[in-house]
Amino acid sequence: MAIKVLSDEEMRVQKGFIEKMRSFATGKMYHIFTMGCQLNENESEKLAGMASEMGYSFTDQPETADLVIFNTCCIRENAEDKILGQLGYFKALKRTKTDMVLALCGCMAQEPHMVEKFHKTHGQHLDLIFGTHNLYRFPELLYEAVTTQKKQEDIWEMDGTLAEDIPIKRDSSLKASVTIMYGCNNFCSYCIVPYVRGRERSREPEKILEEIRGLAKDGYKEITLLGQNVNSYGKDLANPMSFAELLKEICKVDGIFRIRFMSPHPKDFSDELIDVIATEEKVTKCIHLPLQSGSTNVLKSMNRKYTKEQYLALVDKMRVKIPNVTFTTDIIVGFPGETEEDFLDTMDVVRRVRYDSAFTFVYSRRVGTVADKMENQIEEEVKKERIGRLIELVNSILEEQNEKFVGTIQKVLVEGRSKTNPEMLTGRIESGKVINFSGGDDLIGKVIDLKITEQRKWYLTGVLA
Ligand code: SAH
Ligand code: SF4
Ligand code: F3S
Repeated sequence: MAIKVLSDEEMRVQKGFIEKMRSFATGKMYHIFTMGCQLNENESEKLAGMASEMGYSFTDQPETADLVIFNTCCIRENAEDKILGQLGYFKALKRTKTDMVLALCGCMAQEPHMVEKFHKTHGQHLDLIFGTHNLYRFPELLYEAVTTQKKQEDIWEMDGTLAEDIPIKRDSSLKASVTIMYGCNNFCSYCIVPYVRGRERSREPEKILEEIRGLAKDGYKEITLLGQNVNSYGKDLANPMSFAELLKEICKVDGIFRIRFMSPHPKDFSDELIDVIATEEKVTKCIHLPLQSGSTNVLKSMNRKYTKEQYLALVDKMRVKIPNVTFTTDIIVGFPGETEEDFLDTMDVVRRVRYDSAFTFVYSRRVGTVADKMENQIEEEVKKERIGRLIELVNSILEEQNEKFVGTIQKVLVEGRSKTNPEMLTGRIESGKVINFSGGDDLIGKVIDLKITEQRKWYLTGVLA
């Protein structure tokens, strides 16, 4: 099945089910468990939006909720054990709270072997299972589950859907995520995402701009644009538009202070995009540039379509064109066939690029992917030993990078009180690093200049400049 763009009429039908749910939901509570990436977090905000419009209110105590939603991720194996554990716990709870509605959605629901596992285990207690392509149908499925008392399972095998105007209840009132495209066409050999999220499809630029203008009007200051490979944005539109062009348009929206985006792919990071980052003040100069491996051999077998040298050349080019550019990354160790020499290539790139931060992962076999069928899988012991060395290196560089900020003045959006120390206000500098400082509540929501006074590994401290 190809990509289905949902009509206004189809979305109106769902609004109808939201209305119909009011008599069941008013006065009741919901809770959502969100696993995985920012894209899933953004989709949980949509689930929250729909639930709120039905009349549910949020509770942070899942045990007391009438509706519990598990929005799942399957990027690595540990998520599987976690969800089965949680389902077991809620199965027990449901024995005493029989009218509790349990729903499961997200990427795991698109994996046939996981759905099978749910059927065989605690999953029998799920009232509702739906996939990534039909999230917009949540109101209808919930209504059916509640009114018929019959389990609803609706999972679509297809290239994907594009739905606009789903209600949304955002977690923050200052920072917002905006998904600009769905799916992925890259098929990196280790990755499950293309199988569970379908093919690339871009939202119409006007819809994206409309959403961002609305956010600016509501007082939002920072926007994060989301997509599995934002560099591919717009290629599939009837009137193609590049990501760089979209960024330029978004910069024209008044009131937005900073625009972040993730993730771009090193294989197609255009000069046009580099120029927009360099010239547009609002666009972050902190680039998330997933490396995955520093070895050209491993990169080839990962199907990443760039070499170690090409990656380093891209970093160098950006350093020349974008003053004060910084980098963050994702790295996998223990990919099938990775030799000690390959691993040392990864360490070498980390040493040369000097990332501000790096998410490091041990390779996890995913059913259905090309790498899962490779014969030269690496032993767990070796993987563990390598990730230990990598983390040590990443952390030593992190402190050195932090040190560079001490004494400088940085623009910071004041996000609120620090959760760990309510005496302090908190925000993030350009690179995304947390900074804590003292000040009054009147500063919350404002963009201020801070002088960095100290680095404390995971965060910085500062004073009003
Ligand atoms: N589209 C994004 C990545 C999304 S997944 C990109 O290409 O950058 C986030 C990260 O999870 C990836 O960058 C990768 O480092 C990691 N990852 C994906 N599949 C994995 C696997 N099978 N095992 C371990 N880590 C994995
Ligand atoms: Fe996965 Fe590669 Fe697509 Fe990222 S670009 S989602 S790593 S297949
Ligand atoms: Fe996980 Fe799906 Fe995101 S697999 S990382 S939640 S796209």
